[in-house]
Amino acid sequence: MSTLVALREPDGETRAALTPEAVRTIVRLGHRVVVQTGIGTHAFHPDEAYADAGAEVLEGAPLADALRGADLLAHVVPLEPERLAVLQPGTITLGLAGALDDERRAALAAAGTVTLAFERLPRISRAQAMDVLSSQSFVAGYRAVLEAAVRLPRFFPLAMTAAGTVPPAKVVVLGVGVAGLQAIATARRLGATVAANDIRPDSAEEVRSVGATFIDAGVGTAEASGGYARALAATAAEAQQQAIAPHIAEADVLITTAAVPGRRAPRLVTTEMLAAMRPGSVAVDLAAATGGNVEGSQPGAEVRVPSSRGGGDVVLVGLANAAGDLPTDASRLYAKNVSNVVELLTVPGAEGEGATLAVDTNDEVLAGMLVDVAPQEAG
Ligand code: NAI
Repeated sequence: MSTLVALREPDGETRAALTPEAVRTIVRLGHRVVVQTGIGTHAFHPDEAYADAGAEVLEGAPLADALRGADLLAHVVPLEPERLAVLQPGTITLGLAGALDDERRAALAAAGTVTLAFERLPRISRAQAMDVLSSQSFVAGYRAVLEAAVRLPRFFPLAMTAAGTVPPAKVVVLGVGVAGLQAIATARRLGATVAANDIRPDSAEEVRSVGATFIDAGVGTAEASGGYARALAATAAEAQQQAIAPHIAEADVLITTAAVPGRRAPRLVTTEMLAAMRPGSVAVDLAAATGGNVEGSQPGAEVRVPSSRGGGDVVLVGLANAAGDLPTDASRLYAKNVSNVVELLTVPGAEGEGATLAVDTNDEVLAGMLVDVAPQEAG
């Protein structure tokens, strides 16, 4: 029988790597599950619910013992060195691995742990149920629109009342991956009219399919492998800015979600473009923590930029961990992604014995997630 452990995440992270529902699934697969006391506090899952689902809820020395004997540690945020240090060589870690620079790879090599990184999950249809980047982007895209809606001094929907008709808000979404599509869908559900831009070839069709207008920046297409975007050349980026600027100036709300894996987020909106919005308009930058799509955005902070039209400010909200702001459902989806990977790792035991875990490198999904701890060649 294999032992799977999940701990309380470090301060500032509200999500949990396992929920009671995921524990139930993993126990049913034939594993022992240990969670740290209070693991689900921020996501509103009490310890009793974990215990009812079949987990051992431990703290102190018993937890330290379980960690030393763990076959797998499930986590959300990248593991700090002190967490790695208590694991035995060969323990599988499953979660977000963060930036894998040489220093980090050396730390992982020294720990001798086997790192499965959600960031490296192949984007194939079989892997979708394990895709943490998708599930958390889905939550973030929804949350970004609500952040804007509560700050906007206007309605989102068209309102026809005895006191007059109020036109719907105009929303512009830049970057239409999982988060952007969910942002469009959420803004549409609230009744806004939406226009959006992306640089992947499929994005125009995707934008139209969720009821928004595509802003064609005429910069061609920029798709790399795995369905991700690649960085635009400087001239194309300039042309894109010129094309989107008038749409932003007329929008009440701007939501930005553009990302290029392994790179700083592309800077799509200058302060001048933001200031051209009407006073009271709101911009929400989901990429604030990775460099920002909007000049001047700061993760976890609200910045005010005077509108160049006068009469007040444009509010720029930098989200630091938008999925973590909806911890119950973000954890529900994250933990389901975790239990789906655990299922893939599970080798059923013989009659009367528990199951074990093995990273089958012939499996495309697991091979993709497995981090090679050797220093990487530059380029
Ligand atoms: P992401 O989070 O890496 O980037 C968000 C969006 O920003 C992407 O659509 C990207 O094209 C866009 N972007 C990058 N640079 C930009 C720029 N300069 N201007 C405008 N937009 C820019 O992407 P995400 O959300 O992870 O998904 C990317 C694609 O992969 C989507 O088509 C998605 O549907 C697909 N996907 C496929 C999966 C599968 O088959 N298993 C799972 C998840 C996503």
